[in-house]
Amino acid sequence: ITLIAGTAHPALAKAISAELGQPLAEARVARFSDGEVDIKLDEDIRGRDVFVLQPTCPPVNEAWIELLLLLDTLRRASAGRITAVMPYYGYARKDRKDEGRVPISAKVVANTLVTSGADRVVTLDMHAAQIQGFFDIPVDHLYARPVLLDEVIAMGIEDPVVVTPDVGGTKMARAYAKRLNADLAIVDKRRISGTETTIEHVIGDVRGRNCVIVDDLISTGGSITQAASTLKAQGAKAIVIAVSHAVFCGPAVERLDAAPVDAILVTDSIPPKQPSPKKLKVCSVAP
Ligand code: R5P
Repeated sequence: ITLIAGTAHPALAKAISAELGQPLAEARVARFSDGEVDIKLDEDIRGRDVFVLQPTCPPVNEAWIELLLLLDTLRRASAGRITAVMPYYGYARKDRKDEGRVPISAKVVANTLVTSGADRVVTLDMHAAQIQGFFDIPVDHLYARPVLLDEVIAMGIEDPVVVTPDVGGTKMARAYAKRLNADLAIVDKRRISGTETTIEHVIGDVRGRNCVIVDDLISTGGSITQAASTLKAQGAKAIVIAVSHAVFCGPAVERLDAAPVDAILVTDSIPPKQPSPKKLKVCSVAP
């Protein structure tokens, strides 16, 4: 096989390469002076089974266009099979028309992955698993759950309740609860805008209980910190957050630092934002 990395997350690419004992292919992935992406492969990959390591993490558009051009480079260099390894799939939250006159961005980027040359996609905890159906090529949809659960279990949390910060995350939370043999609670969140949410009520009893809030991602941190405050107000004891993707934009770090939480577990699908929240622990998905 051949591994080639974009510039979105060099540390994760290096970690994956080390896990496999397989060096990264020599290539120039840079920018022209006007900001356009400049790519040149320095080795022959004709007929090779090539894996492109490029999570489409913020700045999302930069990472996406670089990934598409890498795929095109490989196809035109006659790679045998091309797999896009993108632990974070940017635009996954725009997976349907939930109001009039909006795009289905997750489908548009799926189309461009395929037309640019991807034969297969490997991704991790997409916002909606159904996005797999946007592709007519194989999609390996991996879960961060085993990695995050190892850490949760190592913390020895007594009699935990797994909490989803919105109804849409119930299936994911149930999978965590099953493995922890824990109860489930659901925070009934309503989204007011891209950055604002409100909580109607909590389904399930959290009084005097240790809570593990699980979600696919933290963006501005609004959903998860409001959920934590609501749980605390309802008498929760310790609160641990376990989230796959640390997107952390806008006020996320300040909100997490101010929230009544005891630990924040995330994966390294996205490079850690600096400064990071104080109680952050990053668990690697490279293996
Ligand atoms: C929502 O459906 C997602 O699973 C996340 O809960 C949400 O997108 C997080 O966004 P924010 O951190 O901005 O509240």
